[in-house]
Amino acid sequence: MPKQKIVAGIDVGTTKVCTIVATQDSSGGLQVLGVGITPSRGLHKGMVVNVNEAKESIRESVQRAQQSSGTRIYSAYVGVTGRHIVSQNSKGVIAIPRNDRLVRPDDLRRVLDSARNVVIPSDRRILHAIPRQYALDGQVGVQNPVGMHGFRLDVETHIITAAVSSIQNLVKCIRGVGLEIDDLVLEALASGEAVLSPDEKEMGVILADIGGGTTDISVFKEGSIYHTSVLPVAGYQVTSDVALGLGLPFDIAESMKRKYADVTPHPAEEQDQAINIDNGHNISHAELCNIVRARMEETMRLILLEMPTSDYTQLAPAGLVLTGGSSSVPGLQELASETLRVPVRIGLPEGVYGITDVLSSPAYATGVGLVEWGTKGDGRQAGWSKTSPKDWNDANAAPWKKVLGLFKALVAKK
Ligand SMILES: Nc1ncnc2c1ncn2[C@@H]1O[C@H](COP(=O)(O)OP(=O)(O)OP(=O)(O)O)[C@@H](O)[C@H]1O
Ligand SMILES: [Mg+2]
Repeated sequence: MPKQKIVAGIDVGTTKVCTIVATQDSSGGLQVLGVGITPSRGLHKGMVVNVNEAKESIRESVQRAQQSSGTRIYSAYVGVTGRHIVSQNSKGVIAIPRNDRLVRPDDLRRVLDSARNVVIPSDRRILHAIPRQYALDGQVGVQNPVGMHGFRLDVETHIITAAVSSIQNLVKCIRGVGLEIDDLVLEALASGEAVLSPDEKEMGVILADIGGGTTDISVFKEGSIYHTSVLPVAGYQVTSDVALGLGLPFDIAESMKRKYADVTPHPAEEQDQAINIDNGHNISHAELCNIVRARMEETMRLILLEMPTSDYTQLAPAGLVLTGGSSSVPGLQELASETLRVPVRIGLPEGVYGITDVLSSPAYATGVGLVEWGTKGDGRQAGWSKTSPKDWNDANAAPWKKVLGLFKALVAKK
């Protein structure tokens, strides 16, 4: 019997670390074997700010996933987010030099390399260079030109860059718990994998994963990624507003928000209810909802400001899909569609089976998306350039490595 391929995904979120272990069955279905969820420490707005604390949260989450799945995790697909992420679209072009003018896989690599040739500061690197579509001799919309004939091959790519130091800190935490990294994946892309339908991606859709520390935004069009950005505003700011507005400690504000907040627009004018909190005080339910509603309304507007064009109905006729833990607040779908005047739905992670009851919340879209990414990876669009985690290893150490190399060469000569 062939050995089953085990895939693990680790979503190192600002509020929780979620490790998922899955395996692909013979018909291509993805079965979840185990899940490990722990509160996260040492993270701020999606980025590692304390390596030791973050490492311990990751270790705990991985151990739980190993226990619940009865498997050992050696490597994982890891989510990346943070305000340091920047994206741009870039074009590349090459000539097909041979007599037969047949496009070969090597030509895809060459054309993608030419698109990757963008100027980026030395403290940043390319995280993803994603081919959106190819054109052969001016014929646009070619998905996979390998095996076709032509003189000139063009590619349109979406390039995502990240700050080297932020990624290095995350890589250090994952390696610190004894795991290798299969791939670093932008969280917005992973969430898109889990909650969007192929039709939505083809028509044009905006996805916003509103988590604890960041709102990860992506726009998909013509079947692939078109725009990505990360807003440093999410559930944490909502809870801070509640804490400040109602004079509550942060953790009580957090539990009041989760239990009682409702952002349905224009709530019925009925008598306000007092909610009794643990310390013997009461808060106004209407006031709590108003505070949360105001911040969520603002977040919806900020999402639109991140769009690459003001004509977002043309850009994304399929509307807006909201996911991430903060999209669980009741009434958000109505509030968003009223504020933005586009179709809105809440996206739950789909495409997996097994122990999915624990994962049936928008908070797990990224985690589920990471394992889906891991299993679909090899069949992904032609020419896809995979991140090499090694690329993030040596940026700071490079000058020392050069000195060490010279020293070794000298010793070898003697
Ligand atoms: N019912 C609810 N109402 C309002 N907010 C909620 C509800 N349930 C969860 N949240 C919020 O969801 C947020 C956590 O979401 P999620 O688990 O997606 O974040 P994360 O992945 O850890 O963080 P990030 O992706 O930003 O790094 C918290 O701020 C929490 O308060
Ligand atoms: Mg998240």
